[in-house]
Amino acid sequence: MVKWGILGPGNIAKKFASDLRLVPNAVLSAVASRNLDKAEKFADEFKAERALGSYQELFEDKEVQVIYIATPHNNHAELSIKAMNHGKHVLCEKPIGVNAKEVTAMVAASKKNGVFLMEGLWSRFNPAIKKVKQLIEEGEIGKLSYLYADFAFYGIGRDKDSRLLNPYLAGGSLLDIGIYPVFLAYLFLGKPQSILAASNFYETGVEVQTSMIFKYPDAQAMLYSGLTSNSQSIAEFSGSKGSIVIPTRWHEAQSYILKKEEDSDTVSLPTKGIGFTHEIEEVQQCILENKIESTLWTHKNSIELVELLDSIRKQVGIVFPFEE
Ligand SMILES: NC(=O)c1ccc[n+]([C@@H]2O[C@H](COP(=O)([O-])OP(=O)(O)OC[C@H]3O[C@@H](n4cnc5c(N)ncnc54)[C@H](OP(=O)(O)O)[C@@H]3O)[C@@H](O)[C@H]2O)c1
Repeated sequence: MVKWGILGPGNIAKKFASDLRLVPNAVLSAVASRNLDKAEKFADEFKAERALGSYQELFEDKEVQVIYIATPHNNHAELSIKAMNHGKHVLCEKPIGVNAKEVTAMVAASKKNGVFLMEGLWSRFNPAIKKVKQLIEEGEIGKLSYLYADFAFYGIGRDKDSRLLNPYLAGGSLLDIGIYPVFLAYLFLGKPQSILAASNFYETGVEVQTSMIFKYPDAQAMLYSGLTSNSQSIAEFSGSKGSIVIPTRWHEAQSYILKKEEDSDTVSLPTKGIGFTHEIEEVQQCILENKIESTLWTHKNSIELVELLDSIRKQVGIVFPFEE
C-alpha cells in the first residue's frame, strides 16, 4: 500500500483524488487545507482517512508517505521542500517551480533527504502521447521536422485575484498552460537551438498570450498559449513520410490520428479515469523501487523544461513581483 496525502484541496486536487481511487494499492491517508472545515468536506467526499487543518500537520503526519502538492505555482517549491525535509516523497503539480533556481533547490532537497520527487506533468504518462512518441522514434512518419501545439481557453473573465490572473500567485498563461506545448516540443525534439517568442499582457500585469517558435537544426516547432480566447488545443507532428495529429485537448489525449498519403487512421487509446492514474502508478512504482526520480520524467527534465520557460520569460519580460 502507498499512503498518500493531498495538500491544497482545490480544483485539481478533486480530479486527482477521484483518480487515486482507481489505482490499486493507493490509499488516501490524509488531506490538508488551511481551513479544517474544507479539509473535512474533501475527506468526506473522497474517503480520506484524516482531515487536517494545516499543511504543517501533514508534513508531520506519521502515516503519510507521499504528498501531492496542489497549490498555486508560487508556493510549490517552498511546500515541496518542507515536505521532503520531513522525509515525505513528493508529487508536485506543474510547473514544479516557477524558475530554475527553485527547481534546482527542490532537486537538491530530494537528493539530500533521499526521497522521491516528481513534477506532476501527467501528459508524459498519457497512453496516446506515449504511443505517438514510440511511433515517431520508430520512424513511422519519417524524420520529424514540424511540430505544432497550442493550448488556450478564455480565462480573463475570472476574478482578478484568481490564480490565473494574479501575478503574486505566478499567474498568466505560460506557466499554467504554455508549459504543455513547451513540454511537447522538448519531449519530441529536445532543447532548441534558439527561441523566438512574443507575449501580450493583461491589466493585472500577467501575461495572457504567448507565441513561440523553437528552431532546431532540421526542425521547427510552433507553440502557443493564451487566456484571451479558446483555441483548438491540438498537437500535430509532421515528417517526411506522414503526420500524426492528437485531437483536442491534446494534453489529455484519448486518441491520435495517423495520416499517410491518402490514408487516415484514428486510434483510440483512452486514459484510465481522467488520466492522473498513469502518473500515480509511476510514482508508486518508483517509491516501491526506492527511486528518487522517475526515468520517464527525470529531475533533469524538470530543470531543462523550466530553463526553457525561463528563457521565454526573459525574452518577453515575464517577471513575478516576488522575484524582483
Ligand atoms: N495537471 C493538470 O491538468 C492541472 C490542471 C489544473 C491545475 N493544475 C495545477 O495545479 C495547481 C493548483 O491549481 P488549482 O486550479 O487546483 O488551484 P486552486 O483551486 O486555485 O488552488 C488550490 C488550493 O491551493 C491552496 N492554496 C494555498 N495557498 C494559496 C493561495 N495563496 N491562494 C490560493 N490558494 C492557495 C488552497 O487550498 P486550501 O486553502 O484549502 O489550503 C486552494 O484550494 C497549479 O499549480 C496548476 O498549475 C494542474
